[in-house]
Amino acid sequence: MPDARPLPLAPITPLHPRRTAVLVGASSGIGAALARQLAGEGYCLALLARREELLTALCNEINQTAGELRARPYLHDVLDYENIPGLLQTILSDLGSIDLFIYNAGVSHAVGLKKFDFRKDLLTMEVNLLGALAWLNPVAAMFQSLKHGQIVGISSVAGDRGRVGNPSYNASKAALSSYLESLRNRLTKYGINVLTVKPGFVETDLLAGAKGTFWVISTDQAARDICKAIRKRKQDVYTPRRWRWALLIIRNIPSFIFRKLVF
Ligand SMILES: NC(=O)c1ccc[n+]([C@@H]2O[C@H](COP(=O)([O-])OP(=O)(O)OC[C@H]3O[C@@H](n4cnc5c(N)ncnc54)[C@H](OP(=O)(O)O)[C@@H]3O)[C@@H](O)[C@H]2O)c1
Repeated sequence: MPDARPLPLAPITPLHPRRTAVLVGASSGIGAALARQLAGEGYCLALLARREELLTALCNEINQTAGELRARPYLHDVLDYENIPGLLQTILSDLGSIDLFIYNAGVSHAVGLKKFDFRKDLLTMEVNLLGALAWLNPVAAMFQSLKHGQIVGISSVAGDRGRVGNPSYNASKAALSSYLESLRNRLTKYGINVLTVKPGFVETDLLAGAKGTFWVISTDQAARDICKAIRKRKQDVYTPRRWRWALLIIRNIPSFIFRKLVF
């Protein structure tokens, strides 16, 4: 008969304190790569998403690799706003403490260049923005009262300019970036670090079928860049880095030229 006992928790010692992280949107792509990277750095993780099979397989893989309990799955739809404060408390009691909170959940529902679709826009705003607010408000309040914690939001270079291709995705990421900046300006005085992540094109399901992509990076590279920025307590990070300089130029392209660029 297989041994059904849960793996033991990672031990806490002065040299190996147990750091803990919550990752919303962990089942695939950048989120799954981040989970593997953070577990490799010794974090104990609460991993949240809707797809049970993917999430369970990821937790099993992480726990087997570590030889101890490092990752626990929590089935969750970020549109389930009402249940978020309760779920946060459950996770807090399971992990014992929370050092790092990452909001990565995101969708992109592109519409044709001549089409407009409010249902798709609504879903994009609900997952990319409203779900983020529903989670980050109680997390910010908790970290503020504890004077401890790090918050990471996965935004996008897409939020830096309004392109013709995917208006509501651009708008959701622009709003998320602004919200994260406001949180940072509120929380820095309490010792809380807020990191805004702006990936360019990353090879994931979200990018499937997208045209005109370039400088495409792997999820592992994105995860490494993000974890380095977390360690250095940066305020923002572009991945890959060259997007920071590209955006300096792109942000200054006059509108009458920018609107002719189909991307
Ligand atoms: N790929 C890129 O080129 C790129 C570029 C810039 C920014 N980003 C951002 O990076 C983040 C991760 O995306 P990805 O590229 O890694 O795509 P992905 O593989 O599709 O990952 C999206 C994640 O969000 C979760 N998610 C979506 N809707 C959810 C919901 N209602 N409730 C809970 N979780 C939900 C998904 O889990 P379930 O489906 O299992 O719920 C999945 O774990 C997104 O915020 C995206 O906007 C991606």
